[in-house]
Amino acid sequence: MKSIVIAITGASAIQLGERSVQLLLENNKNVELILSKGAYEVAKSERNIHIPVEPKSQADFWRNKLCVESGKLTCYRWNDHSASIASGSHKTKGMVIVPCSMGTLGRIASGFSHDLIERCADVHLKENRPLIISPRETPLNLIHIENIKRIAMAGGLIVPPIPAWYTNPQTINDIIDFIVVRIFDSLGEDLDQINRWNGPVK
Ligand SMILES: Cc1cc2nc3c(=O)[nH]c(=O)nc-3n(C[C@H](O)[C@H](O)[C@H](O)COP(=O)(O)O)c2cc1C
Repeated sequence: MKSIVIAITGASAIQLGERSVQLLLENNKNVELILSKGAYEVAKSERNIHIPVEPKSQADFWRNKLCVESGKLTCYRWNDHSASIASGSHKTKGMVIVPCSMGTLGRIASGFSHDLIERCADVHLKENRPLIISPRETPLNLIHIENIKRIAMAGGLIVPPIPAWYTNPQTINDIIDFIVVRIFDSLGEDLDQINRWNGPVK
């Protein structure tokens, strides 16, 4: 089964990336996961979570934290430039960057390919495979907007982590699930049952 690459970068709300991995594994998917250097920092400062960097320990950490045994999970270091996913010859179904920092967004937009996430995004664009980016910042400056536009024009899909209110969310988890499921709708993956818009309440 072709893998789905998930990248979690150093933007607020890494819970969105975590929940993405959890739902994909629960649905028996093959997940290749990269955390940027910044993501480890945000996990520590925002949530007091210390994520192991070593790939095997990290895969064990996620399986334990997310309580999921199904699916396939492979973790990579952000600076592993010789990883299989750094090459277009390694087939994937697509790549999702959630949440995406403005730093990673800008480097992808300029073709910088400094770390494995940026290289992998570059590969998905050049191979014309789905690249979905969920940028997290507010407010946006003109540089952010220009970078978003550049990626969209190169074939990337921008799916900001914006909740819907018509679902009448009751908890943060409701909001997270809505955002994550809508991101994977864009990749053609049906991950979960969420309340969808079915016309006005009668
Ligand atoms: C707690 C915390 C929250 C942050 N939130 C954001 C954010 O929402 N968006 C953003 O673009 N940068 C955010 N940053 C700054 C990035 O982490 C920083 O620019 C980092 O260099 C990004 O690295 P990366 O793109 O390699 O992940 C945050 C940093 C910290 C410590």
